[in-house]
Amino acid sequence: MGIQFKDVSFSYKGLKVNYDAIRHINLDIKSKNEFIAIVGQTGSGKSTLVQHMNALLLPSSGNVVVFGQNLPPKKKEKINYLRQKVGLVFQFPEYQLFEETIIKDIMFGPKNFKSTEIDAMEMAKRAAQIVGIDESLYEQSPFRISGGQMRRVAIAGILAMEPEILVLDEPTRGLDPKGRNDLMKIFKELHEKDNKTIILISHDMDLVSEYAKRVIVLDEGELVFDGTKEALFEHPNFDSFHLDLPTPLKILKYLEKEVGIPYLPKYDFDSLLNYLKEVAHE
Ligand SMILES: Nc1ncnc2c1ncn2[C@@H]1O[C@H](COP(=O)(O)OP(=O)(O)OP(=O)(O)O)[C@@H](O)[C@H]1O
Ligand SMILES: [Mg+2]
Repeated sequence: MGIQFKDVSFSYKGLKVNYDAIRHINLDIKSKNEFIAIVGQTGSGKSTLVQHMNALLLPSSGNVVVFGQNLPPKKKEKINYLRQKVGLVFQFPEYQLFEETIIKDIMFGPKNFKSTEIDAMEMAKRAAQIVGIDESLYEQSPFRISGGQMRRVAIAGILAMEPEILVLDEPTRGLDPKGRNDLMKIFKELHEKDNKTIILISHDMDLVSEYAKRVIVLDEGELVFDGTKEALFEHPNFDSFHLDLPTPLKILKYLEKEVGIPYLPKYDFDSLLNYLKEVAHE
């Protein structure tokens, strides 16, 4: 089932002209076991694309099908059902916190989707635990914790609804390196333990190369690449995608050219270091 896009275009209506933000997109995303990064220059349509995945935006033309349901569904209740199944975390989700206490904020989603108070509390506690928000913080105001913790609380609010597919729009933006890595480990664990499909928008190619299995590249609203990360980074026309190479690959290319160390793609720093150790011992 999962998510299908069939020739989807969307234009923002302006006063004088319309702006075609995504054009003729075809996509097939499985409901389990995918780790997809969506990349592309600023303004290429990434946020617009993902907002179609739970009917926040509806196509100007073409079709979006989510868990077998054509969007928009005829019955309004179905929209809630889909928003529970496809959890979307916006850019800077911490701006949307509003409740008096952290636990109430995390419970808001499940309560809204008709869980009982007790069930919503259980779901919220489970989500808080996943993102590492300690019980001692539950009754505190979400506005009196650090920015990184606020982001975790906001993400927990989506996780509490137990979505099958988790869509994250630049979840690590503005975090320090430790905050970034901690958060990525959480997503990786959700993916590996529960086989959850994760869809992640990011400008950070190091992070894309370390975590994603599949990459979708947008360029001026068009899908110009959809395939494995291995295929992307070795693509003969990689330059035409206007993307940066991940640092480990840049280093390996440099070492081949300048020092003659044979190029072997390594997608994260640990694998790069292990490879260099092996070469040094030869
Ligand atoms: N509400 C809106 N009204 C009109 N145009 C919009 C609106 N939102 C986005 N756009 C335009 O649509 C295009 C795609 O925007 P979108 O936000 O999807 O890009 P993006 O790839 O997410 O960019 P970024 O990396 O900066 O977040 C941009 O040119 C943007 O200016
Ligand atoms: Mg965006």
